[in-house]
Parts: sequence; structure tokens; C-alpha cells
Amino acid sequence: DYLLLLLGLSFVLTCIHFLNKSLAATKFGPGNLPPGPRPFPVIGNILGLGNKPHQALADLSKTYGPIMSLKLGSITTIVISSPHVAKEALHKHDQALSSRTILEVARVKDHHKVSMVWLPVSAPWRNLRKACATQMFTANKLDATQALRHKKVQELLDYVHESCGSGSAVDIGQAVLTTVLNSISNTFFSIDLARYQFDDQSLNFNNLIHSVMQEAGTPNIVDYFPVLQSVDPQGIRKRITTNIEKLFNIFDGIIDERIQAREKMMSKESKDLLDSLLNLVEENSSQLSLTSIKHLLLDLFFAGTDTTSSTVEWSMVELLHNPEKLIKAQTELRQVIGKDGLVQEFNIAKLPYLQAIMKETLRLHPPAPFLIPHKTETEVEMCSYVVPKAAQVLVNVWAMGRDSSVWKNPTSFMPERFLESEIDVKGRDFELIPFGAGRRICPGLPLAQRMVHLTLASLLYTFDWKLAHDLKPKNMDMTEKFGLILHKSEPLLAIPIKVRLLS
Ligand code: HEM
Repeated sequence: DYLLLLLGLSFVLTCIHFLNKSLAATKFGPGNLPPGPRPFPVIGNILGLGNKPHQALADLSKTYGPIMSLKLGSITTIVISSPHVAKEALHKHDQALSSRTILEVARVKDHHKVSMVWLPVSAPWRNLRKACATQMFTANKLDATQALRHKKVQELLDYVHESCGSGSAVDIGQAVLTTVLNSISNTFFSIDLARYQFDDQSLNFNNLIHSVMQEAGTPNIVDYFPVLQSVDPQGIRKRITTNIEKLFNIFDGIIDERIQAREKMMSKESKDLLDSLLNLVEENSSQLSLTSIKHLLLDLFFAGTDTTSSTVEWSMVELLHNPEKLIKAQTELRQVIGKDGLVQEFNIAKLPYLQAIMKETLRLHPPAPFLIPHKTETEVEMCSYVVPKAAQVLVNVWAMGRDSSVWKNPTSFMPERFLESEIDVKGRDFELIPFGAGRRICPGLPLAQRMVHLTLASLLYTFDWKLAHDLKPKNMDMTEKFGLILHKSEPLLAIPIKVRLLS
């Protein structure tokens, strides 16, 4: 009702605005702000975003250029749409742009006050990044957990194999999400939290994660009008709180049990990440507390799972849409792995086409099309414009990936373009920054690369694939659905045909 009221009010104000002023899209720039479309009173430019804001803003940047300013409700927003400006923002002005605009969902349970994703660059944020980097993401730590990922991917193959006999289709995104959730839950706690199939009684961890992601991806009017914070007009905060409490109960149970087991055993040996983090809490060296561990787990589950599974799903979508590329990928795999082998992480270095597929998928379908919104700590001069303090900064990596002045045939899926190129996703080549760049670059990048490569390679090596309902590749629906993660609007349903022996 609040939403309707607000829209009604905005409509009236907009009409007055239309009557009083010329409709010409003048470039507005008080205080030398970057140019942008004229904002309407109260709502600013919200209506121009539509339900695919990444596309709408890419279109607008063709008129206003690679650095634009808009008003999204009461929030001054700067949108960056070219590698050149992205470099200026995330390299030259990295420190000044390193804060976060706090989305309303991040305030649930005061998550933003202790979360690595939402804290500004500060000592607590550095401690969390360091704890994760050293305990989880170094090459040594990742090597130590690779057997665990191989096991989880083998379970995925077993699950897919069950569909082979019946000829039924697999929802690739959902299946891979389960694999990734369990890879991460085993890295943390040495247990599976997610399941491929459910009975009604079982606690459905997949659904819990999924519903929080869905709610968090719903446009929330409070993000545009923070004055409405206490009202929660759409009830989003209330619903998310209920689900986050359920997740915290699960984490609390696991952590309590572990603390008791450690006391009984009198052992500080680290068998998984939870042990390592509890050791840090006891040593008190990283300022970590049991509460901050719970919030860290939340961050890692939400930032690391859907992003990874969606990348595998989009890779499969593009390969099924371009069958000659699928054959090329399978030929490379079968040459490198041999006849009845198993894909393992150490094989990845010898699979350049597979690596090119991941880059090409992230170019066309970055899971976070605007990265995670940054915020300016201070006023910054950028490209001869003034970006004010506390402005929201969106880097439209989706637009950059499809810019015809940067990429040849930008909308075609051509992994080959990366075979002869040094461009990588690690934050140094600003034409391709799906993980961000600078201080806030995704800390999970090395794990994401291993998981995407291993899972995709295993699915392609072990099975042949065809589309459900005898759909022809050229008739596939390739549309996207904007949310917290940029998903395919309809899930990919594909039928596996077994070609490899399963061990
Ligand atoms: C941040 C992308 C996987 C944990 C980010 C950001 C992006 C991103 C774009 C924001 C960067 C910025 O704001 O400038 C991705 C993609 C992934 C992926 C495309 C998979 C294909 C993972 C994994 C983990 C993870 C596997 C951990 C298990 C995080 C965390 C942050 C983050 C904790 C917040 C860092 C901070 O704000 O300091 N990621 N990510 N991500 N990612 Fe990832």
C-alpha cells in the first residue's frame, strides 16, 4: 500500500514536472556532477530502470557516456560503463570508493555491522579478509580441500547419472547449487547441509538459502528511500529475518556441538575451517568472536554459492546453444583426461578451452552485473567531474562485457577470443572484471575458478547433453532475470546421456 501511495504521489509530482519543464533530456550537472537523465521529483530516475536495470543503464550510457549520474529515489548514484572509467574508479580512486551502500537486507540482525561484505574498509574488515585468505583461499589450503570437492562433484555425477536411465531432464542450476553448497558446508563443518532430493520432513537448507536470495533480490523501496527503514513497507525485512534466524539456529547448533567435542577431546587440531576459526577466536589474534564467525558463514554461503552455480548453468546454456563449441570442449577434455578417467583440479591447467569458456561466460553473464554497490568515502574528482561524498557507485560490468568498442561480435559466444589473449578475470584487465578489482575484489575468486572449472568439466566429460522437450538450440530462451544474481529467466533443463564410466 505504501508502494502504491508513493507511486501515486510520484505520478502527480511527475505530471506537474512535465507541465512546468521542457521534456528534452537535458544533461543535468549541478556542481559538475557527471551527466545523466533529468531526475523526476521524489522518485528521481527509478522508473527508467525497468525490470532489467543493467540493460536500461547500458542503454542510457550510450546517451550520457561511460560515467553518468542518476537519482535513484533519494540516492545519488554514479554509473560506470567503460573499462577506462572503471580503472580510474577501482584503481586510481580505489580507497575513496571502497565503502559500501548498505542495502536494507544487509541490516537484518545487524549483519552490516560485522560483515566482510558490508563493512567499510577498516581494521575489522581487514581482519576478516585476512582470516579468510589465510585459512581458506591460499593455493595450499585449496589443495588441501580439493579431495573434498572431487567427492562432492562425484555425488553430482551420481545424481545426474540417475536421470540417464529414465531419460528425465536435470535442472542444472539447482543440481550444481546443491554441489556448491555442500562443497562449502564441508569445507566449513565437514558435513552436507544441502540435498539433491527432499522428503517433506527434512530441513530444506537449499530452500532456506534460495528464499533469502529471492527476497534479497526483490527491489526494495527502502533502498531508494532510507527514511522508510522503520516501516518495512513490503515486509521484506521481516521475512528475511525469519529465515536468517533459522540459518543462525543451524550454525549455532553446529558450533556448540563442535565446541563441546573440542573440550572433550582436549584437541585444537584443525580438521576444517570451523576448527581453524575457533582457534583464532581462542588465540584472540584476529578479533574474531563466535558471533562474527556466524556472520562470516552467512557471507560466504550467500556470496559464494549462487554466483558459482549460476556461472556453471550459463556456461552449459551457452554450450547447448552453440553445439559446435560443446563438441570442441568435450574433445579437449577427452584428449586430456583420456578414455575412462576422472576430471581433477590439477587437470585444469591443461584445459585452455575450458578456461576460455568460463571467461566468455562471465563476460556475457556476470552474476553480479553491477558488482556489489560501492560508496564514496569522500568527494572524488573523476574524469573531470565531481563525484560527491556518500554517492552510490555501480560498475556496470554487464555493459562493459557487451561493448562493441571493446569486443568484436560482442553478443556472440566465442571462447576462442581468449585463446590468443592474455586477458584474465583477476582484476588487472579492466575490460573483464566480473569479480571486481582493487581492495574489494572477490576474495573467493581462486575457489570459484576451481569449482566452476571442475564441475563444468566433469559434467561435459561424463555425459553428452541434449535439451529437454526436443528443443532446438536456436529456439532456446536466453533471457535473463535481474535479482541479487543475474540468472537465466527459465532454469536450464537438460537431458544427460552417459558416455563415461562412473568410478
Ligand atoms: C565479493 C563475484 C564467488 C565471496 C564479490 C564481488 C563480486 C564477486 C563482483 C564484489 C566486488 C566489488 O564489490 O568490487 C563473484 C563471482 C563468483 C564469486 C562472479 C563466482 C563465479 C565467490 C566465492 C566466495 C565469494 C566462491 C567465497 C566462498 C565473496 C565475498 C565478497 C565477494 C566474501 C565480499 C568482499 C568484500 O566486500 O570485501 N564477489 N564471486 N565469492 N565475494 Fe565473490
